[in-house]
Amino acid sequence: MKGQITLGIESSCDETGIALYQMGRGLLAHALHTQVAMHSEYGGVVPELASRDHVKRAVPLIRKVLAQADVSLEKIDAIAYTQGPGLGGALLVGASIANSLGFALNIPTIGIHHLEGHLLSPLLSDPAPEFPFVALLVSGGHTQLMRVEGVGRYELLGETVDDAAGEAFDKSAKLLGLGYPGGPALSRLAQSGSPGKYKLPRPMLHSDSLDFSFSGLKTAVLTLVRQNDLNDQARADIACATQEAIVDVLARKARAALAQTGLSQLVVAGGVGANRLLRERLTHDIEKRGGRVFYPELEFCTDNGAMIAYAGALRLAQNQENRDYRFDVKPRWNLDEIERHYVR
Ligand code: KG4
Ligand code: ZN
Repeated sequence: MKGQITLGIESSCDETGIALYQMGRGLLAHALHTQVAMHSEYGGVVPELASRDHVKRAVPLIRKVLAQADVSLEKIDAIAYTQGPGLGGALLVGASIANSLGFALNIPTIGIHHLEGHLLSPLLSDPAPEFPFVALLVSGGHTQLMRVEGVGRYELLGETVDDAAGEAFDKSAKLLGLGYPGGPALSRLAQSGSPGKYKLPRPMLHSDSLDFSFSGLKTAVLTLVRQNDLNDQARADIACATQEAIVDVLARKARAALAQTGLSQLVVAGGVGANRLLRERLTHDIEKRGGRVFYPELEFCTDNGAMIAYAGALRLAQNQENRDYRFDVKPRWNLDEIERHYVR
């Protein structure tokens, strides 16, 4: 329904993201607190610390977006929150706040699948893709190619059989002595590396399958790290080869997915979608063949509240909200189970 305002709460991992989306108007405001600095001391996300931090951040951020948008709490029509997948404790913080606030305001709540948020996030940009399209979802936890027919109509075309693309970046970065999160750090270091100095494996590239495998890559990186005198240039060259291998596999499989489905639009979502080389390669390869690639704004590539508010607004428009305030979080949740979730 035009005009309805949805508050979105994202708390599945290490960012607290809050946003307000109004049907017919678009994104009214959004705010984010990232816990990267806190977790970087430990070299990765510490779940208990993540939950505690979401507790501290969520309400002040809600106040902040309401003030930014000049919207009072009473004007909100629904509250969407990430119900899964993600860290159980972190998800529970967002789910509890959403449902208690929803109950207090007597407005519905909507549990959103985190990956659906990522999948639909390019629709927040202008120009936006039109259904149907192929989505390449590349985050710290997921690497999937999906055929997207419409909201909630997703067909899995291929996925990683082991590590996710973001994990491959993060683990390789760790081997090179870089901090967390490794993706952006490795990609920065790669800029001073010489392309082609080292060649790393590209598993599963020559099969027809659209599945990915990245676990062999970190073993190959480890071998390079052990074999070489790890001076700055060698580290940069290895970073360069690692990024090249990951990007090459992602770009070729994405192209194959378009060819197999006969679709021309590719949407790239998830944190690794922020990678510059990946963007350049995909745009070059696909536009050359008459296709088109769409990316969310950089700030909506990584976890954020806007994608959850937006997915919530679309679900609300389809009357898929919940008014009983009973909730459970789903730390593990397959996207293909999503339609069953909304049928009641
Ligand atoms: O979507 P996201 O923020 O969180 C998850 O749901 O996982 O993705 C985070 C992942 C991390 O693995 C991070 O290293 C990676 O995205 N990432 C990047 C870049 N920016 C973030 N990887 C490569 N290049 C980047 N520029
Ligand atoms: Zn994510």
